[in-house]
Amino acid sequence: MQILRTVREMQLASRHLRRTGTLGLVPTMGALHDGHLTLVRRARAECDAVAVSIFVNPTQFAAGEDYETYPRTFEEDCGKLESAGIELLFAPSAQEMYPADATTFVEVPGISDRLDGASRPGHFRGVATIVAKLLNVVGPDLAYFGQKDAAQVAVLRAMIRDLNLPVHLVACPIVREQDGLAMSSRNRNLSSQNRHQALILHGALQKVCELLEDGETCSNVLHNALLEVFATDETIRLDYAAIVDPDTLLPVDSAKGALIAVAAWVGNTRLIDNLLTDDLLIEKHDIGHRSMEEIHA
Ligand code: PAJ
Repeated sequence: MQILRTVREMQLASRHLRRTGTLGLVPTMGALHDGHLTLVRRARAECDAVAVSIFVNPTQFAAGEDYETYPRTFEEDCGKLESAGIELLFAPSAQEMYPADATTFVEVPGISDRLDGASRPGHFRGVATIVAKLLNVVGPDLAYFGQKDAAQVAVLRAMIRDLNLPVHLVACPIVREQDGLAMSSRNRNLSSQNRHQALILHGALQKVCELLEDGETCSNVLHNALLEVFATDETIRLDYAAIVDPDTLLPVDSAKGALIAVAAWVGNTRLIDNLLTDDLLIEKHDIGHRSMEEIHA
């Protein structure tokens, strides 16, 4: 595995690999867990060569958020990526990605102000900017993102469409711990009590699954069910519980084809989780008989 630290080095290395076949990119902020590694393995299976980026992107953290304390485990991450058999690791410094004279940003207005964007103003401007830059530097044919960050996927899909970027975005299913908690680099910040309380996010979505399986699709009813579950632990601060169109992130009356997303503060840690109701229908009617490609086509 080659580790590239500068834009120039990365551009040369990926240009070389692209000549010989398809190139996949998995952008990350490091502190890699099985959620990230599932994206990496999928890219490994689908592309001739794979690049992973590790960059804790300062522009997507607001003042007072956890940029300084965000977990950084570079040596460990390198070991995991070596084992996954990837070709290139792009790990630039903040100065390399944002020289002092850089003033250009990418904005996706509207979508960027919904869900996480509503409580983290400017967050998706930072995400769109760094992902556009990474796509330009690496030039992949396919770029892999996790459905765990559903609003991020919606923003990036819109950006790629609007700017005609020559890349295909692949959205990968949420990877969970055995008890259902969605994997996240921030889970390591949870105290053991908070770790237990954090299950409320998955629990609320499970409640909605049960209602959907009973045929309930009215967003108001499902929304109330989410609120009822969160009301059972008053130490948890709900940020949002939303039933929206997965592309526009605007509220919908019926949960058919919807994204059901929650975000909450558990202790000092903000956690998110979601489900796509279309995935539920696929799982229910055809468990285990489809390839990943078919399910997520
Ligand atoms: P980060 O939080 O490190 O996540 C990197 C990628 O891994 C994202 O696409 C995210 O959705 C995915 N991911 C994280 N946990 C996952 C899980 N439990 N299941 C499936 N996928 C998971 O997201 C970012 O970094 C940044 O915003 C980035 C896109 C790198 C831009 O800075």
